[in-house]
Amino acid sequence: MTTPPVCDYEGSDYQTIFWEQGGRAYEDRAEAIALKKLLPDAGQLLLELGAGAGRNTPRYTGYERIVLLDYSRTQLAQARARLGDSPRYTYIAADIYKLPFIDSLFDGATMIRTLHHMADAPKALGQVRRTLRPNATFILEYANKLNLKAILRYWLGQQNWNPFSLEPVEFAALNFDFHPQAIRQWLKTLGFRIKATRTVSHFRLGLLKRLFPAAFLAALDGLAQPSGTLWQLTPSVFVQANLTGPAQPTVAPQKILNWLQCPECGTHPLTDADEHLHCPGCGRNWAFRDGIYDFREPLT
Ligand SMILES: C[S@@+](CC[C@H](N)C(=O)[O-])C[C@H]1O[C@@H](n2cnc3c(N)ncnc32)[C@H](O)[C@@H]1O
Repeated sequence: MTTPPVCDYEGSDYQTIFWEQGGRAYEDRAEAIALKKLLPDAGQLLLELGAGAGRNTPRYTGYERIVLLDYSRTQLAQARARLGDSPRYTYIAADIYKLPFIDSLFDGATMIRTLHHMADAPKALGQVRRTLRPNATFILEYANKLNLKAILRYWLGQQNWNPFSLEPVEFAALNFDFHPQAIRQWLKTLGFRIKATRTVSHFRLGLLKRLFPAAFLAALDGLAQPSGTLWQLTPSVFVQANLTGPAQPTVAPQKILNWLQCPECGTHPLTDADEHLHCPGCGRNWAFRDGIYDFREPLT
């Protein structure tokens, strides 16, 4: 199966450089506020897509179990070091374009700062949709090409791409900004209904961040976020969408083997072999090492 290229974070110090030393306390707090407002109070099984080093995972307090999925094994290792091993967390290295889960499994999913890297966003969103149950809640964050700064730069002739056109813009290799209308259209086509939209990071300006404490700016941001229902001009937008369709029983299979399918051939169930999972359909073996299920490439 051919899939689009992946922006590979293997070995990256993203969490340290971008978040911990990057002066982004305001953005982090603003995201926490948006998530608190958009997450349901309770849920069973949440899929965190592009979980990275687990920065947001502790915020998903209402869910009984959380599957952290990321293409990068080293990001997942950092998440595991932060969150530890417990029945509540499952760590899976896999490509969002080939999710190793059976259909209609999760009653929740989040995708924060990750669609940003999808060269084929509708394809990625289609995979998310496949693995969600009807009525599941999907919280999607996307980078907005129609942001105020991009509009001003375009009008002043400092930027050659048009922020008003619907197609994504790849402003750096495998880094994409999206038009809000395109996102709404893709979600609708896939059967999602948007329940809420919050615009985030209204005050992402170096000068403001130097002048005011992060907590103050984030609190102001929280007040401004609901305006996302009316217009979206911030660099980051959070959408809460529900998958439409008849309700299904809400019991998730307890054992992970009941959740998984081969990402290459779709066979389910996989069988539990020594230190790896075996696919009886195509014969591939998938490693389980250091607490992480690895569906990136099969064992030889
Ligand atoms: C910018 S980081 C965001 C991490 C985390 N969501 C956060 O907000 O702190 C993007 C993450 O998406 C992951 N990623 C990118 N493309 C992916 C793909 N095709 N499948 C799975 N993960 C992917 C990267 O490995 C990286 O950890």
